Amino acid sequence: MTKPPATLAEEVREKVKDRRSYESVIDRLNKASVDKHWEAYADIPWDDPELQVDPVDPRWTLPPTDRLGGTEWYRSQPVEIQARIGLWRVATAMKIGLQFENLLKRGLLTYAYKLPNGSPEFRYVYHETTEECHHGMMFQEFVNRTGMPIRGMPKALSAVAQLAPSIPRLDTELFFVFVLGGEDPIDYVQRTNLKAGHIQHPLEEIILKIHIAEEARHISFARHYLKHRVPTMGRIRRKVLGILTPVVLGVMARIMLSPPGPMVRHFKIPRSVVREAYRGEAARAEIRDCVGKVRDLAAELGLIDNVSKRIWHLFGIWDKPNVRHAPAR
Ligand SMILES: [Fe+2]
Ligand SMILES: [Fe+2]
Repeated sequence: MTKPPATLAEEVREKVKDRRSYESVIDRLNKASVDKHWEAYADIPWDDPELQVDPVDPRWTLPPTDRLGGTEWYRSQPVEIQARIGLWRVATAMKIGLQFENLLKRGLLTYAYKLPNGSPEFRYVYHETTEECHHGMMFQEFVNRTGMPIRGMPKALSAVAQLAPSIPRLDTELFFVFVLGGEDPIDYVQRTNLKAGHIQHPLEEIILKIHIAEEARHISFARHYLKHRVPTMGRIRRKVLGILTPVVLGVMARIMLSPPGPMVRHFKIPRSVVREAYRGEAARAEIRDCVGKVRDLAAELGLIDNVSKRIWHLFGIWDKPNVRHAPAR
């Protein structure tokens, strides 16, 4: 547990120390962005014969350990259909990812617009925006190469999501919770699939590896930003942030992990199969787990109390946080 400062001088010294370590994190992230970054059309050999996307390539088939891939219905489909469904799902995740990142970039630029000269965040936010532009291009190029009628977020949701880029005008801390709400579940799913050996096509593997490497920096920045800023927020603003955090995370995690509606209709996947694959205990556990790191952070920052805990429960994303430090205050 962090010992509270005894005197005002000690408190000032601690704040300076905290500020210095925050700025040194930003310096490290800036350097990493310069040293290691990828460009969508310079670093991916799209026309390499080995990387071509064929919708009936069996490498797109979902493994039996996948929740949809493990259903009786899926396994009884012709191999070609199994491959098409697997590819459709990968491409939809990329389309939703690029739509989320479009909102994110606009929000980052809104945030950067008002930053004063000399602000350490300015340069990093521009590095992040540049990297996200390349992610958007590589995801869209992949979707185009599938030749499938891939749609991203459902229309109604997409309309509401247009408010996201304006969040930094109201509250930058809430905006970075939104950032983590999108980035952490995507990162969780991509890492889990890669680690489990589910990625068999080399183009998908290249894209995921690039994305995971750069997202680690974006997630680190958002986490450090919140760790630095939340302890300085007033009681009321912090309370409101504590209530809105599970709302944002609950909605975002569902957007990322839900079955694509057009895919369900196109392949006429029976309702009972969708229920079995996406509404069962394993699916609920995945939604809970994919926001685990943000939940731990919220607990560490003192953003969870009895009221907000109910909202975490309501959205089905509550689990006991794993907290290393006591709340800042
Ligand atoms: Fe990204
Ligand atoms: Fe990102």
